[in-house]
Amino acid sequence: GSIATKIERNTAFSTLNSDDVSHFKEILGEKNVIQDEDVLLTANTDWMRKYKGFSKLLLQPRTTNEISQILKYCDSRHLAVVPQGGNTGLVGGSVPVFDEVIVNMGSMNNIITFDKVSGILVCEAGCILENLISFLDNHGFIMPLDLGAKGSCQIGGNVSTNAGGLRLVRYGSLHGNILGLEAVLANGNVLDMLGSLRKDNTGYDLKHLFIGSEGSLGIVTKVSILTPPKLSSVNLAFLACSDYLSCQKLLLEAKRKLGEILSAFEFLDNQSMDLVLNHLEGVRNPLPSSMHNFYVLIETTGSDESVDKEKLEAFLLRSMEGGLISDGVIAQDINQASSFWRIREGVPEALMKAGAVYKYDLSLPVEKMYDLVEEIRLRLGETAKVIGYGHLGDGNLHLNISAPHYDDMILAQIEPYVYEWTSKHCGSISAEHGLGLMKANKIFYSKSPETVQLMGSIKKLLDPNGILNPYKVLPHTLSSYH
Ligand code: FAD
Ligand code: MLT
Ligand code: ZN
Repeated sequence: GSIATKIERNTAFSTLNSDDVSHFKEILGEKNVIQDEDVLLTANTDWMRKYKGFSKLLLQPRTTNEISQILKYCDSRHLAVVPQGGNTGLVGGSVPVFDEVIVNMGSMNNIITFDKVSGILVCEAGCILENLISFLDNHGFIMPLDLGAKGSCQIGGNVSTNAGGLRLVRYGSLHGNILGLEAVLANGNVLDMLGSLRKDNTGYDLKHLFIGSEGSLGIVTKVSILTPPKLSSVNLAFLACSDYLSCQKLLLEAKRKLGEILSAFEFLDNQSMDLVLNHLEGVRNPLPSSMHNFYVLIETTGSDESVDKEKLEAFLLRSMEGGLISDGVIAQDINQASSFWRIREGVPEALMKAGAVYKYDLSLPVEKMYDLVEEIRLRLGETAKVIGYGHLGDGNLHLNISAPHYDDMILAQIEPYVYEWTSKHCGSISAEHGLGLMKANKIFYSKSPETVQLMGSIKKLLDPNGILNPYKVLPHTLSSYH
């Protein structure tokens, strides 16, 4: 809608014709070439219902070879393409801007191998994260990443956005956990980098180009992931803090005192909690009181039930005595733990139900992080609700502004202020969601001109016709080659 109208369609791209459709049917078979209007409406619309494209065609390949044939053909015809996983992306990267052909990865959902000794899982890119979590659980392993969208997002989408999520504080980013991958380039060439080695220093490690490049350099078709063993004792505490400084101090204490067993450190403010309570069914605050301004979830994962529990309890007692936490509860069973997680993971869904959302995903120094939320709150006054939550353990703030409708006056109060503030504090304008369409032109707030120029050269080398996810990631001055 309003976003696409600010960008012009790249006239170097062709428009789909009936010969193209026939050709795709030859490659994929009739039923995997989809022109159904309802399917297309869903695939053209992003999770936030904020970005909407006008694609007339969705392709559903089942093999790397089919993807190779599709891209080779699209490249020769200058047909633009959007790779699409679970379509849970939050920056408008997974839907077409205009009439790009959608390559849906959902049918490439096979697990290829799992090595129980090394914990290395090799699977196709279209595997849904939650299915991988269940598969591994049966073998006594876990995925190194977990996020609220696990029921729909795909590992290929996670890799392409370099998704962070709830466990990054413990297991690190996908740049560390993805040992190898296979990708198809715009010209149809298949890059086999599907190694399963912990160590391999034979020159440039090109797989990293595909981790976090949001479908702009190639389509990821297979991945090899290092998965940690499932440990026997997991505990989750839901805590209340009276101010942000206490949350910060609690984080430092948790890193020192819970160190090796700390597996998540998440926070949400009182306003996020209210939103969840008002918009999600069956959710209640385990620590009801009007005194709590912040809530923190601390998860520990270790191998000794009694030692871990003792450690956590001692930590909580000390934090309570020291005034860092004003109240707290440890989940007594799995159901209670998932009800605590529901509160934190439910924030994005509650925001959607509340109306229009302006979503910012920032890396900021932990000491400064909440100042921004308060400043934006002051700027907006009564016109919108400003909430802060996120992965405090990773210095990642989710600043969200909720309003009844999208309104240019509200936007003008937020942007460019948010980006300038972030840049001034040496933060990142995208901690984990990516740039997509939303922030392609904002890249200079976080990267130097020389770096962006080199990104443009790499894009041009790998995708000379610019057919892969156009208008996304790179600033528009660099991504159109006509
Ligand atoms: P899509 O949304 O389909 O695509 C995302 C991008 O990747 C697009 O640019 C697309 O073109 C590209 N892409 C997808 N598949 C491929 C492929 N196989 N090859 C090449 N390119 C591809 N993100 C976090 O980092 N942490 C969170 O905690 C988190 N929580 C979330 C919670 C909710 C409720 C929601 C809705 C989203 C959340 N996200 C989070 C956003 C996150 O980016 C996505 O959930 C996820 O990583 C995207 O996977 P997907 O399969 O849905 O990809
Ligand atoms: C989260 O941490 O909840 C996700 O990144 C989604 C969001 O920021 O809304
Ligand atoms: Zn997040």
